[in-house]
Amino acid sequence: MRTYLVTGGAGFIGSNYIHYMFKKYDNEIRIINVDVLTYAGNLENLKDIEDRENYTFVKADICDKEAISKIFAENDIDRVVHFAAESHVDRSIKHPEVFVQTNVLGTAVMLNCAKAAWELPDGTFKEGKKFLHVSTDEVYGSLPDDKNAFFYETSPYEPHSPYSASKASSDMLVKAYMDTYKFPANITNCSNNYGPYQFPEKLIPLIINNALQGKKLPVYGDGKNVRDWLFVEDHAKAIDMVQEQGRLFETYNVGGHNEKQNIEIINIIIDTLQEMLPADDPRRALVSKDLITYVEDRKGHDRRYAIAPDKIKAEIGWYPETDFATGIKKTIAWFFEHEDWMKNVTSGDYQKYYDDMYANK
Ligand code: NAD
Ligand code: TYD
Repeated sequence: MRTYLVTGGAGFIGSNYIHYMFKKYDNEIRIINVDVLTYAGNLENLKDIEDRENYTFVKADICDKEAISKIFAENDIDRVVHFAAESHVDRSIKHPEVFVQTNVLGTAVMLNCAKAAWELPDGTFKEGKKFLHVSTDEVYGSLPDDKNAFFYETSPYEPHSPYSASKASSDMLVKAYMDTYKFPANITNCSNNYGPYQFPEKLIPLIINNALQGKKLPVYGDGKNVRDWLFVEDHAKAIDMVQEQGRLFETYNVGGHNEKQNIEIINIIIDTLQEMLPADDPRRALVSKDLITYVEDRKGHDRRYAIAPDKIKAEIGWYPETDFATGIKKTIAWFFEHEDWMKNVTSGDYQKYYDDMYANK
């Protein structure tokens, strides 16, 4: 039975990945989820699988070398899937140091502990061990408004925000381990995800949540920045396929071929909410395009991200299966069914936690 060490599994993509993996492999795998539970980590995301015998949760910081080494010492880990990170650009602009700490130093600890556990006396690695580093297309910087310009695996790294700079640094560390030690790893650089369990600081869940309460819908700058949106389950599938079928030491870009301007996304969400809300639901009266409010632009706001997922399609056969119209309906339906989840993560307690965590950083 393969044993997975998943970092950041209580967050948005990590929890979707764990659900995906149990749905696919059921009792054929074991998953150990290590997460320190920042504001973004939420064990409620994993409630329906927490009692499985082949699932263990460990509350630990990936920067804590002792705690991470202990997990490797006590378990024969076959796969690492490394999600844990600070993931929000706006926070990184206000508090860059936390991003360096978790994203760079935390990745260094993960690499170091995996290497120590997997390396043989002759410097090669135990058969079949694999580390997958989950990264972002934001490391490549910003594309012009030109429909023919895409990010490729060979595109130069040109990160602009403290978030993308910290992710770029972590990618470089993984590359250094692969080049120096032939450490068995892959990197995936993915475009913007959306779907169930996404924290409502990111565009799509924020707009859904605000619209349903009749609150303003903040649009940064001119609203014409473009992101390439991928349904999170498609991303979970890509990660598994890369780890099992990809060539070791390779980077794979994972994208949705679904470029949209932010203002288009907001309009689609409002239209879809109006279509999906029952006629007698009082929230119908609140959801309106009048809520759209243009606000000051994000500092250093990247204009456009777009991935051409040619390599992963050609080599592995992965492609984004969920079109945006379907994915956004599934996402909205999930939020309708999980009102308490949204209430809990936006409560006063959460706000206090946030303030404490980022104080002075
Ligand atoms: P998230 O913020 O929802 O979740 C991050 C998780 O990591 C949380 O559960 C948090 O508690 C945990 N964590 C944070 N610091 C930790 C630490 N020091 N030790 C242990 N756990 C820690 O993030 P997400 O959106 O799920 O993103 C997951 C990964 O995917 C990140 O590496 C991110 O850079 C990458 N990524 C995200 C997107 C996206 O659109 N969300 C796109 C491409 C790549
Ligand atoms: P976000 O979800 O924060 O993802 P990222 O910055 O990693 O791409 O933002 C997506 C886009 O939406 C980005 O161009 C910034 C913009 N945005 C808004 O216009 N308003 C908002 O309230 C937020 C959170 C984002």
